[in-house]
Amino acid sequence: MKKKKVALFGFGCVGQGLYDIIQQENNLPFEISKICVKDPQKKRDLPNNIFTYNKHEILDDQEIDIIAEAISDDDEALEIARLGLRNGKNIISASKKMLAENLTELIELEKNSQGSIIYEASVCGSIPILRTLQDYYKNSSIYGLFGILNGSSNYILSKITGEGLTYQVALKQAQELGFAEIDPSLDVGGFDASNKLCILARHGFQLPLGTSDIFQFGIQRISEHEISYAVKKDYKIKQVALLRKTTGGRYLTMVMPAYIQEDSPLYQIDNEYNGVLLQSNFMGEQLFTGKGAGGHPTGWAMFSDLLAMTNGYHYSYNAGSRDDTGLSDEDFSLNI
Ligand code: HSE
Repeated sequence: MKKKKVALFGFGCVGQGLYDIIQQENNLPFEISKICVKDPQKKRDLPNNIFTYNKHEILDDQEIDIIAEAISDDDEALEIARLGLRNGKNIISASKKMLAENLTELIELEKNSQGSIIYEASVCGSIPILRTLQDYYKNSSIYGLFGILNGSSNYILSKITGEGLTYQVALKQAQELGFAEIDPSLDVGGFDASNKLCILARHGFQLPLGTSDIFQFGIQRISEHEISYAVKKDYKIKQVALLRKTTGGRYLTMVMPAYIQEDSPLYQIDNEYNGVLLQSNFMGEQLFTGKGAGGHPTGWAMFSDLLAMTNGYHYSYNAGSRDDTGLSDEDFSLNI
């Protein structure tokens, strides 16, 4: 069978992780035919002819079936998704901020496209949480989601409370290990977790949640006193994300640091690991955990999407826009 042609956008930590995984796997139904990068001067360990610096060379190429995008420029990522879908391409994206902010538009574009867009790598790195929500939970019964959605913050907090590192040293390590965003205030300020919570809300709750609906508080505001208190009591501090349906059909939603006690399912989830606890009517509580950041774990999520996509996999949505749900901003206030 003829192999599908894949073009990669971005060759940073995740792009290289994905490329490396592909090199180590055999008999794949696809091959990388081009890699689009920004900087022609940067030294890379691959032959020059695989690289292009012009996105249209890929977007207009009829031979390319799938675009796998892992770039840090969200405007550019949106442009690639829009043009790709308009040109009938299948898109795999890791750009959580771009997705969280533009899913309503992209879902609409996908409806009229020959292609589709999937994005497992955008949420919780290696944990197959979107696939699980789509294919296993379907439209069932989830009333609560609680978890750690940002690997960098979890890494930093683990190192501060567990090993006594300073905030600055722990943050620097998270950056060096390739966990943090180029602008790490997205991680520590809770923005990255909020973006991921919006994506999870689509697939777990059929809910077009926006970041402005989420009550958000960053870990950079944690004081020395709060850290010593946690250490003294054997608590851990974690940046937790929460989305819960309240009685009356409203939603409680937040991202903030919290003390976690030993009997919590999140207690053992340390360093760059993420964890998502789902609460549902028929299954009770289920915890999903795994590496939430890093080139290979996140690259694997893209690799798995590539395999799924070559078999025609796509998501389904019940609600596109907020209007479809009949919910208003009031239904997300913390005023419960
Ligand atoms: N900066 C993100 C994190 C990368 O630390 O979780 C993975 O999305």
